[in-house]
Amino acid sequence: MHLFSAMFLLVMLAGMPGEVQNISQSMEVLDLRTFRDLQYVKNTEGLMKVVDGKLKVASENPRSLNPKGFQEVKDKVNQLLPLLPVLEQYKADAKMILRLREEVRNLSLVLMAIQEEMGAYDYEELRQRVLLLETRLHSCMQKLGCGKLTGVSNPITVRASGSRFGSWMTDTMIPSSDNRVWSMDGYFKGRRVLEYRTMSDFMKGQNFVQHLLPHPWAGTGHVVYNGSLYYNKYQSNIIIKYHFRSRSVLVQRSLSGAGYNNTFPYSWGGSSDIDLMADENGLWAVYTTINNAGNIVISRLEPQSLEILQTWDTGFPKRSAGESFMICGTLYVTNSHLAGAKIYFAYYTNTSSYEYTDIPFHNQYSHISMMDYNPRERVLYTWNNGHQVLYNVTLFQVIKTSGD
Ligand SMILES: *[C@@H]1O[C@H](CO)[C@@H](O)[C@H](O)[C@H]1NC(C)=O
Ligand SMILES: *[C@@H]1O[C@H](CO)[C@@H](O)[C@H](O)[C@H]1NC(C)=O
Ligand SMILES: *[C@@H]1O[C@H](CO)[C@@H](O)[C@H](O)[C@H]1NC(C)=O
Ligand SMILES: *[C@@H]1O[C@H](CO)[C@@H](O)[C@H](O)[C@H]1NC(C)=O
Ligand SMILES: *[C@@H]1O[C@H](CO)[C@@H](O)[C@H](O)[C@H]1NC(C)=O
Repeated sequence: MHLFSAMFLLVMLAGMPGEVQNISQSMEVLDLRTFRDLQYVKNTEGLMKVVDGKLKVASENPRSLNPKGFQEVKDKVNQLLPLLPVLEQYKADAKMILRLREEVRNLSLVLMAIQEEMGAYDYEELRQRVLLLETRLHSCMQKLGCGKLTGVSNPITVRASGSRFGSWMTDTMIPSSDNRVWSMDGYFKGRRVLEYRTMSDFMKGQNFVQHLLPHPWAGTGHVVYNGSLYYNKYQSNIIIKYHFRSRSVLVQRSLSGAGYNNTFPYSWGGSSDIDLMADENGLWAVYTTINNAGNIVISRLEPQSLEILQTWDTGFPKRSAGESFMICGTLYVTNSHLAGAKIYFAYYTNTSSYEYTDIPFHNQYSHISMMDYNPRERVLYTWNNGHQVLYNVTLFQVIKTSGD
């Protein structure tokens, strides 16, 4: 605990409550998560020992195991095999956590020294160290928290604003301390982006500035990543990267072969041909082409140049999809934009494989025209019939992160 008091000392000295408080909170969360991980690894190890023991007995006395028993053991081992990379990853993560711990401890020693000898330290340097530490902590936690979507919470309506169709978001880059909220009403030829200072300003509809985009947008598949808006230019398959701070277009590039102009939209139409999104692994475009016969294609994009790094064909017809969003490199697709929709299909880019899923969620206002995951906040942002709605997600792999 004295570590945390030392942290709060820095708050007083350097006047940057945000960052430092976050670190102590992050450490607590990390503790909890690693504790759960450890339990999981221990349980798995137990199971492996049992199987191993049985195999040993069998190899020493082959007659003790009949063919059926042997098959059972073999099946158990096969079940366990996919866990090996997870365990390996866990070990690597555990090492990283140990190093981070040591860094935090070091930093706290410096802080205590400050208490005794005020003025002898370079606060700017300290601040940089705190920021660096925070960055590393966040990416570590993000990696630890990745997994498969198993549930979506009840919706929380943040606000009712705008028309039936639209898009709203916060920055998806990790880490980012940028709390601004952007809102883009409509899907057709829009150019006006409203930028709110904070979520609470967005809720009250106050403290906003306006960006007038140099080119109009199509659809609702926009995303903000690292301080820039990525969007589909009206009546084209061009993706534009608009930088908010300089209010300028940094790059634009055609997404080769991608359908546009309401040729291959989601089930609700609205020129939703090209859906841009970001997750723990970076920036993605979801669309389709004539060559892919209208089936959803996923491309990972280079955020600076918008070049395609890799492409996957999911085989799922885009017009039968209500919406889609990416979590931890997996694309989740809903089967409708209307009431009764569920998350119906998942495509894993890590293994280039898919499965059908049955994850329900509550579509409260019965028309969803945008649904995107924010990896920084681990929530789903949706635009539901003129309402701006959030859902928590439950991810499961080695650990479970809450939403319930
Ligand atoms: C912590 O401080 C010790 C002693 O100054 C140093 O040897 C070590 O490398 C530091 N560890 C980290 C992770 O910075
Ligand atoms: C692929 O990603 C999913 C989560 O998106 C994860 O559950 C699964 O274990 C990963 N598979 C491999 C082989 O890494
Ligand atoms: C984020 O943007 C800054 C410039 O605004 C750039 O230096 C940095 O490399 C970008 N990071 C990523 C991951 O794109
Ligand atoms: C887009 O679609 C509209 C309506 O179908 C049509 O009038 C227009 O010519 C199309 N534009 C392009 C560039 O394909
Ligand atoms: C998500 O979970 C957090 C922590 O339990 C809670 O504070 C927040 O209100 C939840 N948000 C939604 C949209 O359910």
